[in-house]
Amino acid sequence: MTVSIERQGEIAVVTVNNPPVNALSQALRQGLFDAAEALDADPSVKAVVLACAGRTFIAGADVGEFGKPPMPPHLPDLVARIERAAKPWIAAIHGSALGGGFEVTLGCRFRVAVSSASVGLPEVRLGIVPGAGGTVRLPRLAGVETAVDMVTTGTPVGARKAHEAGLIDAVIEDDLVAGAVASARAALDRPLPDALRDRPVAAVAEGFWEAAAKTVAARAKREEAPLSALACVRRAAEADFETAIAFERETFLALRGSPQAAALRHVFFAERAATRPPELAGVTPWTIRSAAVIGGGTMGAGIAAALRDASLPVILVERDDGAVERGLANLRAIFHSAAKRGRISTDAAAERMAGITGTTDYAALSDVDLVIEAVFEDLDVKRDVFARLAAACRDNAILATNTSYLDPERIAEGIRRPERFLGLHFFSPAQMMKLLEIIPTRASAPEVVAAGFALARMLNKIPVRAGICDGFIGNRILKVTRAQAERLLLSGATPPAVDAAMRAFGLPMGPFEAQDLGGLDIAAFQRKAARARGETPFAPIADRLCAIERFGQKSGGGWYDYPPGDRTPRLSETVAAIIAEEAKDWPRLDWDEDAIADCILLPMINEGASILADGTALRASDIDLVKIHGYGFPRWRGGPMHYAQAQGLDKVVEALNTLATEGLADPPCDLLLEAARHGGFSDASR
Ligand code: 3HC
Ligand code: NAI
Repeated sequence: MTVSIERQGEIAVVTVNNPPVNALSQALRQGLFDAAEALDADPSVKAVVLACAGRTFIAGADVGEFGKPPMPPHLPDLVARIERAAKPWIAAIHGSALGGGFEVTLGCRFRVAVSSASVGLPEVRLGIVPGAGGTVRLPRLAGVETAVDMVTTGTPVGARKAHEAGLIDAVIEDDLVAGAVASARAALDRPLPDALRDRPVAAVAEGFWEAAAKTVAARAKREEAPLSALACVRRAAEADFETAIAFERETFLALRGSPQAAALRHVFFAERAATRPPELAGVTPWTIRSAAVIGGGTMGAGIAAALRDASLPVILVERDDGAVERGLANLRAIFHSAAKRGRISTDAAAERMAGITGTTDYAALSDVDLVIEAVFEDLDVKRDVFARLAAACRDNAILATNTSYLDPERIAEGIRRPERFLGLHFFSPAQMMKLLEIIPTRASAPEVVAAGFALARMLNKIPVRAGICDGFIGNRILKVTRAQAERLLLSGATPPAVDAAMRAFGLPMGPFEAQDLGGLDIAAFQRKAARARGETPFAPIADRLCAIERFGQKSGGGWYDYPPGDRTPRLSETVAAIIAEEAKDWPRLDWDEDAIADCILLPMINEGASILADGTALRASDIDLVKIHGYGFPRWRGGPMHYAQAQGLDKVVEALNTLATEGLADPPCDLLLEAARHGGFSDASR
């Protein structure tokens, strides 16, 4: 039964049971509507408690129904029905009351919650606005400022803060339903507060809306939903209730069918599918309760911080005492900065540091469950580290490498019990970036691969399985991005024009700015290794910049010049001269922003199709997640593969053919042609 009713004297308890997250499917909406009718008709019922079974309160509308025609009873009608019920309804919240779930509670006369609960209107994260009165009732409950903040950011609010903000009436420490029933009884002894629809919206200060619009627009960049959500709250403040409800519904329905909402829904489901790959169903992961990191540089320190954020005790191993000190100092700096930004308290920062032991002695690793190696990108150095680890660690300790480009099979060659080895590729800064590429070798045990996915869950990261090749999924596509960016320079575009076009597309940075920030040397190492294997990587300009030690911001110049102490990119005459020399045999073309973006994106999509074709990625949506969570590809574009499908694969193929004719890209690969013929990539996540 999706909805059941039981009685505690004169109080009816309505329990929703629609696993996994009590989403408001048509059956649930109907069940609740019928319950409201039946309870209104029952004279022995004086008040109604609305509670949920399972791990959470109602988590929202059923996102899976968004692509289908809406079926009655519609959610706004259900909320209105509860709001005008003859008896007061009290929402008893545990877990998350999100979106439509929170809107149902706004139809109730009271809201109580356990302290671990949270409430919120995350619709903007799905490219929509609340569609069942959230933007209209929330300002009547908690004021315009709180409403604007909640609906334009989509950030949920924890129960205690929600209580302070007036979003809920009480925090219940013990038995939630018993507490809610007691509050219902107490409420019956007092005059009832007005339903939210009958309350006024408090006036805002002069200039409030203009200031809010600026803030929201700056944060949203090119996302449509946050500004639309702001417009809905403004309408709620300036028009009568019914007009505002109609405006919100219209906005909701218009956005629901928008390309941005489709992209964000795609990412929502891709993220959930990624954590539970079907190929590992039923496999029990090896346990991870403690960890060690080898190397305390940029990546090692970030990885150790991420492990500490998940409360794992961490041992940090470095080459010598001085390096141990530097590694610990790197970690201290990370936690200090997190505390300074208010992400964690200073006590928590100290507690994080206290859980780290620095050492040079591998004997300290005899009992750890997981070791992640993040030493120099050098095969011999890494092999030496793993030979020592294989001897020092338990046979059932997981041994992982964070290599960017080396072949994990070669790193693991010759180690005892190779089934415990795999690649775990973090992205910089590792304590912040959400992506974790999981790279099994032929010998990795499924339980060890499953442990990689379990680790991602512990660290709150998005796991994507990647096959072995030069660069795995993310850096393999990055190589194409960089090569295309150079082709653009050789055919008449300039570094600032390319960077501006990619920022206009929605990336946080253009390819040249990004290289200057991260350093040109890592890619130069990768190209050197590729040439040693007989390959011919394309980077005529970057090669020349590296030859004169222009490695980016850290060396005072890369693609741009940087005066000392200044990170503002300036045009470089040296670079312009090198481009001019290298470009002499290339045609000069006219480039506008769209053409630049196409010249970079279409070959990325083509590479994505090759990555799928050779099994480096298992799902097109995994490639999307890699680019979104590792490289800042705009979430609202859905990732490159979704973007390609949304544009039409036929069009992508045609445009790639044109670029190929001009010598600016490789022709479409077979899988892309096949996908264009069949109308999509085969995607196991759907
Ligand atoms: N609709 C449909 N399915 C949903 C869903 C939703 N709103 N929310 C979660 N699910 C599904 C997931 O796809 C997943 O399915 P699977 O097991 O088949 O992969 C399953 O529920 C469990 O989800 P999680 O893995 O995310 O579970 P967690 O326990 O980690 O998190 C949660 C629970 C915090 C509720 C999280 O699922 C969440 O944030 N959900 C989205 C909430 C949301 O965005 N609500 C707003 C919807 S839009 C709306 O309500 C419009 C309204 O204004 C009209
Ligand atoms: P780094 O140079 O900042 O740090 C390397 C650390 O390893 C140094 O502190 C060094 O003292 C230590 N080290 C070297 N040999 C050691 C040994 N034998 N035993 C113990 N410690 C040793 O390098 P970074 O950038 O942290 O890279 C580390 C690894 O992570 C490389 O494999 C790199 O390819 C990979 N990586 C780097 C990314 C980046 O953006 N920097 C992103 C993802 C992976």
